[in-house]
Amino acid sequence: MKTLAEIRQKYQKKLDFLDLELLIAHIIKKPREFVLAHPEYELDKFKIENLKLKIARRAKHEPIAYILGHKEFFGLEFRVDENTLIPRPETELLIEEVLQEFQDTRYNPEYSGQNTKIIDVGTGSGNIIVSLAKNLESKKIKFVGIDISEKALRIAKQNAKKNKVDKKIKFLKGSLLEPFKKYSLLTTHYSLLILANLPYLSKKIYSSTPVDVKKYEPKSALISGTDGLNHYKKLFKQIKKIYVSCFMLNVTCFVEISPEQKPRIQKLIKIQFPEAKIEFKKDLAGKWRLLVIKL
Ligand SMILES: C[S@@+](CC[C@H](N)C(=O)[O-])C[C@H]1O[C@@H](n2cnc3c(N)ncnc32)[C@H](O)[C@@H]1O
Repeated sequence: MKTLAEIRQKYQKKLDFLDLELLIAHIIKKPREFVLAHPEYELDKFKIENLKLKIARRAKHEPIAYILGHKEFFGLEFRVDENTLIPRPETELLIEEVLQEFQDTRYNPEYSGQNTKIIDVGTGSGNIIVSLAKNLESKKIKFVGIDISEKALRIAKQNAKKNKVDKKIKFLKGSLLEPFKKYSLLTTHYSLLILANLPYLSKKIYSSTPVDVKKYEPKSALISGTDGLNHYKKLFKQIKKIYVSCFMLNVTCFVEISPEQKPRIQKLIKIQFPEAKIEFKKDLAGKWRLLVIKL
């Protein structure tokens, strides 16, 4: 048996203080505050062995979210594993902006009488679409999550269930908007919101990411060709096809970007959607993070 105080003393040089607290809290199944408030609490040898294994994983740079198996995002808990990107706090900006959009009567079914569909392209753990389904209670909204990775989709479905919105969301496997290849599916009375936090790192930026990211998070969720824009270039072409083939379709896109991509994306949009109204938004760190396109 060892007390929390003894354990902390032993490992505090090996591990970041917060990480150590989170691992202990996870093992003893108590909140983090308990770990802080009860230095006298004792761990049996099985728990100590378990803790040692987890400390060793963290010491090899495995992200804490993968070790714990979950990550908090927009006040909800999401299961994550090596097949899903760990949701980032900056992505909460996208959720906030979409929720704000629903103040606009165009998208509020109660006011407009129109059906609204929200499609999350590159859904990963499902953090975006689940958070929205949870925060938008209107029954008329249809929620769809798409990912190319079957394994990520499996986790996304679990997260929808865990957060009690599995009946509201349809998950589809495929590349970008391909599952909607029969674009006629989208015609007439839909207001369409397309959300995308697709891979957007250039090769150069990816090479400078921390070892935790490079060694453990799926490369296929992060990198997108030399300039980081391969996915978005293809997506914009698909959106254009949808838009021109669906008369009167109301389309708004929310796209997370890497800050340095702003001028290049601006040019791309001007070519692809010359009539569109576009706006860039900064994240809490003051970096350009979100692009909103209104067609
Ligand atoms: C940057 S991660 C974002 C995950 C999640 N939306 C989030 O906010 O944390 C990008 C996701 O896009 C998926 N993806 C990559 N290429 C794709 C494609 N061509 N079509 C659909 N999804 C794709 C990856 O599997 C990954 O889950």
